[in-house]
Formats: sequence, structure tokens, C-alpha cells
Amino acid sequence: MRALGAWLLLGAGCAASAQLQFRATKSVEQTVCNETVILPCIVTNLALKNIAVLFVKWKLEKKEFFSFDGFGNKTLISSNFSTAELVSLSHLPLGMASLSISKTQAVPGNYSCEVTESNREGETVIELKYGQASWFTKTENILFIVFLFFAILFYWSQLCFIVLTYETTRQKKICLIIAGVILSVVAAVGCSLVVVDANVLKNQVGLGLIVLPTGILVPLQYFILQIVLESDRSPLAIAVAVLKLVGYLIAVIGFFLCINACPPKCGAVVIAGLAIMTFMVAVGLICVIIRGYNKKSHQLPRKAVEEPLNDAKGVMLE
Ligand SMILES: *[C@@H]1O[C@H](CO)[C@@H](O)[C@H](O)[C@H]1NC(C)=O
Ligand SMILES: *[C@@H]1O[C@H](CO)[C@@H](O)[C@H](O)[C@H]1NC(C)=O
Repeated sequence: MRALGAWLLLGAGCAASAQLQFRATKSVEQTVCNETVILPCIVTNLALKNIAVLFVKWKLEKKEFFSFDGFGNKTLISSNFSTAELVSLSHLPLGMASLSISKTQAVPGNYSCEVTESNREGETVIELKYGQASWFTKTENILFIVFLFFAILFYWSQLCFIVLTYETTRQKKICLIIAGVILSVVAAVGCSLVVVDANVLKNQVGLGLIVLPTGILVPLQYFILQIVLESDRSPLAIAVAVLKLVGYLIAVIGFFLCINACPPKCGAVVIAGLAIMTFMVAVGLICVIIRGYNKKSHQLPRKAVEEPLNDAKGVMLE
């Protein structure tokens, strides 16, 4: 009786050990930054640790595209997966059957990894998903665009007030408008590039077009506040321009910190810089509006006083 029990136990043990086990990974994500995709497949209970008794098969949706036979050291690869290779042949006897594929050939889907060690075998399925498709995350892209949009909107609002309320030369107004048009066009191109999927270079050029030209807002804002405050080197105009310059420098530093990294790690720095700039354009707009109203309310009584005087002068001249 005891012998039978032991025999049954042994049998159960053998049946369990006939199955290879894997480190569980349900899915991996491929982003725009992955040059190669690694599909993990790690067997945790290889017994012989001998490459000659190992056989590895990789399938995509049940269709085999890669096989490695350790006995003859033979690899078979289907042509549409020509870049597929085992990540480390020397670690295969230890159970590492992970596969690397170039990003152009890796298609999303369910991949299965089948490993045989002598008479034991096992299979695991890994889903390859497409993750983040552009250089920055969607949220970061939205924040870049929103801050830039409001910076430009506030700039144009300042221009409208200047043109309607303030007396300044036609030439100055035209310069301000041309600068605004150029900035808006470049910004639109930048925004459309930064959100493009699967092209980091376009995203980088886009961010460059979003960040770098906004520097023009620093002198423009100073120029506008000088017109509005009717004085050269007014401390308010200088303060606004300096703070805006600080925001611009932060955004530019963030841009250069990001440019070499994929995924970029300092989007927050760029966003902070753009946010400061946008806030300072809003402050500029408030100055323009307040000065505009003060000017109007001062002008009206003065005109009322001046007119009878002029009439009197007219009479005297006659
Ligand atoms: C893509 O790269 C990231 C790190 O940059 C890595 O964590 C991830 O596993 C890679 N994805 C694939 C499918 O290889
Ligand atoms: C992979 O398999 C999972 C679970 O069976 C399923 O939900 C998913 O849609 C599959 N993915 C693809 C791309 O077929």
C-alpha cells in the first residue's frame, strides 16, 4: 500500500516536471522609441541546461516564423521576420528563449514561445501591443499646444488693443502684425509635427518650432509695453520682459535636455517654461487693457475742457 502511494506520488511528480514553466509576462508594449522589440520568454525549470537538447519555436497567431534547434545549432526564419534572433544564445541553456525583432518587422499580436527540453515541453503566450506612438505622451503634447495657443492668442489680443486704442506709427503696427503672423504660422506647423505618430524626428522638429521661435515674444512684449506705458525703459516693461525671458530660457533648456533622449524625460521642464511665458503674455495683456481704459477715461474730460478753449482761441483769432 505504501509502495503504491509512493509510486503514485512519484508519477505525479514526473507528470508535473514534464511541463516546462515560464516566467509570466502577459504582454509587452512597443513604443516609438524601441528600435528593436524584445519578446520575453524565460523558462524557469530547465533541468539539463544543455543547449543540444533544446528546441525553441516562436509563432505569431499560431503560425510558426522562427525555430531554433540546439542539436544541430540550426535556425529557421520566415522571410518577413528576417531580423528575428534569440536575444542570447549563451543564456538559452539557462532558460532564456527571448526573441528580438526589429521594430519594422514586429507587428502587434499574440506571439507564442514553445520550448522543448528533451522530452519536456511548454508554451507561453505574450501579446505585443503598440504603446505610445509619438515622442512625447499625448498629455504632454496637449499641454505644449495649449500653452502655445494661449500665448499667441494673448499676443494677438494685445495687438488688437494697440491698434484700436493707442496712437502709434503705422510702421510699428505693421511690424507687430507681421511678427505675429510669422509666429502663428510657425507655431501651427510645429503643433502639427509634434503630434505625428511613429516619427520621432518630425516630433523633435515640431517641438523645436514650438519652443524656439517663442523667444520673439520677449522683445515684442517689451516693445508693446513701451508703447502702452509711453516711456522708455519703464520698470514694469523690463520686469515683464525679464520674467518672460526666464520662462523662455527654461523652455529652451528643457528642449535641449529632451532632444537626445527617447523617451524624453524632461517634457515637464519645457511645459513649465512655456507656462511661465504664457502667464507673462497674459500679464502683458492685462497691462495693455488697464492702461487702455485709464487712458480713455483721462482723455474724455480733457477733450471736454479743450474744446471750449479752442473755440475761445478761434474767436480771439477772428
Ligand atoms: C521598449 O523600450 C522600453 C524601454 O525604453 C522597454 O522597457 C520595453 O520593454 C521595450 N519594449 C519592447 C517590446 O521591447
Ligand atoms: C491576444 O489575445 C488576447 C487574449 O486572448 C486578446 O484579448 C487579444 O485581443 C489578442 N490580441 C490580438 C492582437 O489578437
